[in-house]
Amino acid sequence: MRILFIGDVVGSPGREMLTTYLPKLKSKYKPTVTIVNGENSAAGKGITEKIYKQILGLGAQVVTLGNHTWDQRELIEVIDHCPTLLRPANFPVEVPGNGYTIIKVNQIEVGVISLQGRTFLPPLDCPFKKADELVSIIKKKTPIIFVDFHAEATSEKQAMGWYLDGKVTAVIGTHTHVQTGDYRILPNRTAYMTDVGMTGPYDGILGMERTAVLNKFLTNLPVRFEVAKGREQLNGVIIDVDQNTGGAKSITPIIINEDHPFFD
Ligand SMILES: [Fe+2]
Ligand SMILES: [Fe+2]
Repeated sequence: MRILFIGDVVGSPGREMLTTYLPKLKSKYKPTVTIVNGENSAAGKGITEKIYKQILGLGAQVVTLGNHTWDQRELIEVIDHCPTLLRPANFPVEVPGNGYTIIKVNQIEVGVISLQGRTFLPPLDCPFKKADELVSIIKKKTPIIFVDFHAEATSEKQAMGWYLDGKVTAVIGTHTHVQTGDYRILPNRTAYMTDVGMTGPYDGILGMERTAVLNKFLTNLPVRFEVAKGREQLNGVIIDVDQNTGGAKSITPIIINEDHPFFD
């Protein structure tokens, strides 16, 4: 079986890229399961129920989130009606929504977990212990487990990869918006990549308009960040999986932009 994962969709440029290329990627690679990180899909900040449904309509089965989960306040009220919209599982237990799901596609069950790191991000429950807890629950049903680890520090992401090596199919990082070149299969067959990258503006700074970000660095005055305009990109990853063991067989990055055009 094969998993396609798309990195943080940022605003309308990200949604446009997804609309254009997700159907093409699906017909080229024929993934069994498609997962999209949508934490920045509503104007760069969070997601709405409508956008979640749009992403499912384009052919994804699961949408993961991160530190921007609650930026669109309406989500607090509706997330419990969005069964495959995952906020990080190590958020406080009182908050609505789910941090993992098990979906079934063509008789294959796949567990998906969203976790958030704690280094340079708000203090949450321990993502490593939460991972243990969820892996033991999901393992009773399926050996195929995909983890989106939404974290800032490369060290914390690598630590999670090694911690879960042999226990899950893949640990793929999100949040830092720049695709890393360290994609690999760890010794016990867990696919790992520090960050899958971002789907949205190609010429911004992490997806935001450059002028505002530069002003922030130059003056440290408060500024309003807007999603950048202009050229667009899509970042993702494909993971081939032994469906009997849940072990990863290969990991292949996807980059689509003007410098790396898509070929059918
Ligand atoms: Fe993000
Ligand atoms: Fe994030």
